[in-house]
Amino acid sequence: MVKKAKTSFFCQHCGYMSPKWLGKCPSCEGWNCFAEELVTQEASGSRAEINFGGKPLPIEEIPTEEGKRLTTGLAEIDRVLGGGVVGGSAVLIGGEPGIGKSTLMLQMMHNLAQNGTKVLYVSGEESASQIKMRGQRVGAASKNLLVLVEVSLEKILEQIKNISPAIVVIDSIQTLYSSDLMSAPGSVGQVREASSRLILFAKKFGIPVFLVGHVTKDGSIAGPKVLEHMVDTVLYFEGDSGHAYRIVRGIKNRFGPANEIGVFEMQEKGLKEVPNPSSFFLAERPQNVSGSVVVPSLEGTRPILVEIQALVSATNLGMPRRTAIGVDHNRVSLLVAVLDKICGLHLGASDIFINVAGGIKLSEPAVDLGVVAAMASSFLDKPIDARTVILGEVGLTGEIRAVSQMETRVKEAARLGFEYCIAPKTSSAQAIKVAKMKVITVSSLQQMLENLF
Ligand code: TYD
Ligand code: MG
Repeated sequence: MVKKAKTSFFCQHCGYMSPKWLGKCPSCEGWNCFAEELVTQEASGSRAEINFGGKPLPIEEIPTEEGKRLTTGLAEIDRVLGGGVVGGSAVLIGGEPGIGKSTLMLQMMHNLAQNGTKVLYVSGEESASQIKMRGQRVGAASKNLLVLVEVSLEKILEQIKNISPAIVVIDSIQTLYSSDLMSAPGSVGQVREASSRLILFAKKFGIPVFLVGHVTKDGSIAGPKVLEHMVDTVLYFEGDSGHAYRIVRGIKNRFGPANEIGVFEMQEKGLKEVPNPSSFFLAERPQNVSGSVVVPSLEGTRPILVEIQALVSATNLGMPRRTAIGVDHNRVSLLVAVLDKICGLHLGASDIFINVAGGIKLSEPAVDLGVVAAMASSFLDKPIDARTVILGEVGLTGEIRAVSQMETRVKEAARLGFEYCIAPKTSSAQAIKVAKMKVITVSSLQQMLENLF
């Protein structure tokens, strides 16, 4: 009897499976994202080829050696990874097209190859000569850097077995194709199958694998969300083509701190590390103009000083505009309401634009006070002293709340020559003693405004 081919419908965003077509995904609530894919009962060999042969062990008898970490030669990436690449780990690196994923991978592989590590760069997107051309641009040339142009998962696995490289890059995971599945490359089924087999392979042979992943328009890594769960580390490439800087942010990391960032600048000859991002982001700061304020934000374990700009101008519209770039839009609305109600600054008839200079994104509430100060400064048209940094979280009643790791932030500000810091009134802030830095503690918004203007 001929077995009927079994198909299911998969959400192309999150991997949700449904026996029939749906207009809206019940899991991720995306519209029109279901595609039919053929399901095979058991992808042949994929499970059998992996045999860990393990038996349960008491936890105290498990050897603790973490294994040596591979140093990538890019200090920024090493830090984001938590001190280098862990053997057998799977790292997903996502980002928009053209942001520099392939460039970064090639530079990293080149550094490793130069130190005598055999590396394999698999590309399914570009021809070998295109890769060679990029290689010449970034100066990548080494006998140990092997390039394979291939999209068949089985052939890639075979080559990895033959060559046994110390590290593998797959650029990109969406181009891979396994003949076990009938669906098209880039579909959820293929992406999931290819990644799970590569990851198992990596774990079994202790070879770290870097998977490059494309990002959809809305910013999530294309293909199933499960990809993020399967890998050990998820790195995200941020930045836009309008700016030269690029940020690699660790979203998830099983071997180190998450949310750590590495800062790069895209130049003629590839990506260049920016070891001192604060001065980079403050380079073009205008002096003595209203609406500009510097906040010491904490990205991972590293403090970075950034400039927040606000423009408050009278509106002709019935509904004033509120635009926020780099900070959360809802958070800004909340702060506007607090300023209006608690401090009597009536912004109701003003358009408000907030921008974080350099295009970096700030997500922590510790920058609240900076946003408020920038808005107030622009509204009152009074500049804030250029030697001042401001940090603190703002509550709904106008109270100012504590932020974490005050001392680290204040020290970074002092290092860059700032002399005053407006901070929440907490014991930790009052205890801070940093040379040439005066910490002014405030407990309410009014108090801060009195201090500033
Ligand atoms: P690429 O690494 O191909 O991006 P992705 O793999 O994420 O799609 O980066 C391509 C962009 O980077 C392209 O717009 C040109 C620019 N670029 C430079 O500015 N300098 C360089 O040395 C290289 C290699 C690329
Ligand atoms: Mg690419």
